[in-house]
Amino acid sequence: MTKRAYRIAVVPGDGIGPEVTREAVRVLEYVRETHNVGIELTNFDWSADKYLREGVSLPAGALEDLSKNFDAIFAGAFGDPRVPSNQHAEDILLGMRRGLDLYINLRPVKLLDARLTPLRDRAIEDIDFVVFRENTEGAYCGAGGFLKKGTVDEIATQEELNTRRGVERIVVAAFEYARLHERKRVTMADKSNVQRFGGDLWQRVFKDVAARFPEIESNHQYVDAMAMFMLLDPKQYDVIVTNNLFGDILTDLGAGLQGGLGLAASGNIHPGRVSLFEPVHGSAPPLAGKNIANPTGAILTTAMMLEYLGEKAAGASIEQAVRHAITQRQTTRDLGGTLSTEEAGAAIRQRIG
Ligand code: NAD
Ligand code: IPM
Ligand code: MN
Repeated sequence: MTKRAYRIAVVPGDGIGPEVTREAVRVLEYVRETHNVGIELTNFDWSADKYLREGVSLPAGALEDLSKNFDAIFAGAFGDPRVPSNQHAEDILLGMRRGLDLYINLRPVKLLDARLTPLRDRAIEDIDFVVFRENTEGAYCGAGGFLKKGTVDEIATQEELNTRRGVERIVVAAFEYARLHERKRVTMADKSNVQRFGGDLWQRVFKDVAARFPEIESNHQYVDAMAMFMLLDPKQYDVIVTNNLFGDILTDLGAGLQGGLGLAASGNIHPGRVSLFEPVHGSAPPLAGKNIANPTGAILTTAMMLEYLGEKAAGASIEQAVRHAITQRQTTRDLGGTLSTEEAGAAIRQRIG
């Protein structure tokens, strides 16, 4: 029986985005054959180039098109020194996250080879957790403003929005994930000792939700302490849940624990709806156009996307291939190898299946 093809929107974006996306797409085209997975790819050129050329960031009607006509979105990265305001990235990336209500930013932190972590004497089992980052509100709500801008009396406010509904759904998602994946503990990080209103809401919601999952341990850490414990004792973490901004920061730290930003994958998810998958890293302007960026984060992101779509076997073979390429040192230079972006992508493809 032939299955319907998954319709994937591909948005390569800026900087190294197009280079790593090319390798991710090659992997998708490869598993289309090896695993007989129907995949239909449609490219979108939303980027700094388009913004500078046409004044268009996220085109009108794009969100409707994505939610009606696609099963998933794959994105490279957005950000370009020629757009210092970062307006196009905000419109495109945060526009998709908020506009498609992708409230879960799921970011696994998993050590694939013990030699890659900067920590001393760690086994791969010691670094294996997932972060549930709230992805639609918090400090990313865009609320705030200036008073007396440009004067010595200038005031800038930057607000953080926490809704009961928003906090509850991300905390529930973290506990449901723990239950489904047999993870024993969910740890919530906030700064409720200072942020007394938003933090208080997070504390109350976390306690309420934890009580609904009695078989799962729950604990709380202030986010500053968590940053330290992630380095000193990462083994204690199974599932972390936190707000948008803390999740952003902690997951770059998590990427560092795994061996660098070139390895980290993420999904922006609303269960049951079109969801967006992208590597954690940005457009890395110093590496762009040189064929040296690590495509592994982007390739592991295709594995996450396939798993989300229900293609677990294809996703698992990609992850296994990445692991093999890394242990055989067939990697780009950030991981100690000598391969170019394209060669590293090919090394992974050769090991699939
Ligand atoms: P970055 O993630 O782009 O890069 C930081 C550093 O990490 C790089 O200089 C490089 O040393 C390393 N790195 C990142 N990706 C790598 C890869 N694939 N292979 C090897 N090394 C890699 O972060 P930045 O420099 O702070 O930001 C650059 C731009 O990207 C900014 O405009 C920022 O806003 C944007 N950004 C976009 C996203 C996104 O689109 N999801 C994420 C983060 C940053
Ligand atoms: C990320 C990035 C984005 C964020 C930026 C580019 C808006 O850092 O995806 O982690 O802060 O969420
Ligand atoms: Mn980030």
